[in-house]
Amino acid sequence: MSRPARERHDGFAEPSRMQHNDIAIRPARNIVGAVRLPGDKSISHRYAMLGALAQGTTRLRNFSTGADCASTLGALQSLSVAIRRSEQGQVEIEGSPWRVPRAPLDCRNSGSTMRMLSGILAGQPFTSELTGDESLSRRPMARVIEPLTRMGARIEAAAGARPPLRITGHELQAIDYRLPVASAQVKTAILFASLFAQGTTAVEEPVRTRDHGELALQAFGAELARDGNRVAMAGGQKLHAIEAVIPGDISSAAFFLCAAALFAGSNLLLDSVLMNPTRAALLDVLIGMGCRISVVNLEEHHGELVGTVGVEGAELKGTTIAGALSAALIDELPVLAAIAPYTTGGIEIRDARELRVKESDRIAAVAANLRAMGASVEEREEGLRVPGNQQLHGAEVDSAGDHRIAMAFAVAALRATGDTLIHGAGAAQISYPEFFTTLEALVER
Ligand code: S3P
Repeated sequence: MSRPARERHDGFAEPSRMQHNDIAIRPARNIVGAVRLPGDKSISHRYAMLGALAQGTTRLRNFSTGADCASTLGALQSLSVAIRRSEQGQVEIEGSPWRVPRAPLDCRNSGSTMRMLSGILAGQPFTSELTGDESLSRRPMARVIEPLTRMGARIEAAAGARPPLRITGHELQAIDYRLPVASAQVKTAILFASLFAQGTTAVEEPVRTRDHGELALQAFGAELARDGNRVAMAGGQKLHAIEAVIPGDISSAAFFLCAAALFAGSNLLLDSVLMNPTRAALLDVLIGMGCRISVVNLEEHHGELVGTVGVEGAELKGTTIAGALSAALIDELPVLAAIAPYTTGGIEIRDARELRVKESDRIAAVAANLRAMGASVEEREEGLRVPGNQQLHGAEVDSAGDHRIAMAFAVAALRATGDTLIHGAGAAQISYPEFFTTLEALVER
């Protein structure tokens, strides 16, 4: 396996330079070893944004090393928030009033940065502009524009409600809002905006999505109430700084869990991984498919569960993923689809139309790459069906500039016959720059 050129991580706003790297993956015999993952991306974004609003200095250890969270830190700096980042992954953020940015805030590839930051900017007394790279510029923003406009912000966007966004903040009014699409980013944007709103804002989601926004707000001292899929929060609440160690990213762990699952002789230990039940559905799915998984040392930090996960591979059965489970597993679906040919019964994914509007059209990208490796795949508007008992062969595949596609096909390549060349593998730096190095250290051949 060749390595990508080293990426610098001394700045917060380095551009996505590595998207064109190619990496070759050779087949593996087993996955063996122990790993500690960089901090969860979803939590890193939220703690950084709330730390920038809170009174005092927020100290975050094991902050995500991904470029997406660096985009959030870069945007916060452009809003005059003081941030220090050490080589050891510690980030210190001085909460302070945000000042009008001198240039557009570049969210690069990060939908989380653009959508969640929009919620806070909607309540600031100035106008700001949010831009993104080519992929982000194609992604739908009506889902945040609509509720934030109802709260009182003025938001202009490009045709089709796409980025760039120009947000003129305002004193906001609380709303009672039912999300038309299940989206934790949008739920969080509205709750963040509600900090600057008069009255109590309520958000109801069609299915339960990750609750890091709610837990982070509580960790920083806000009070909110949950009733089923509905969350309500009074406006005007003040936040105080926290010190936290961010749990390992379970969506990054997913690639190693699935890789280990492919080989009966695998034995992998993942230390301090996020075990929040709204994120850990993959463990249940893998257990249902025949994998042996143990979770020990469960602890709670700022409302988030953290644990050590052990996994041993086995012959994998197939499964169907649909409804609320598809929403809960949205970031893990590409890698599940990528290992589906090696299961006995195949994997069917339904109710996952959202995959079409992620960093790439993930349904199309997964189907194209599986076919390139010799698999038969049924591509549907809202999902895929990948039959089992298929032996893939090494091939040239393409990340489509999408971090999760690059990593999913590195996993599929481990059980193929022959080498696989992943074009644009450097996209992995968006969420997990160390991925290929760590994978190489775990692979037995
Ligand atoms: C995220 C929510 C999901 C997920 C994304 C991170 C979050 O997006 O796909 O990687 O941190 O809230 P949606 O809110 O668009 O479903």
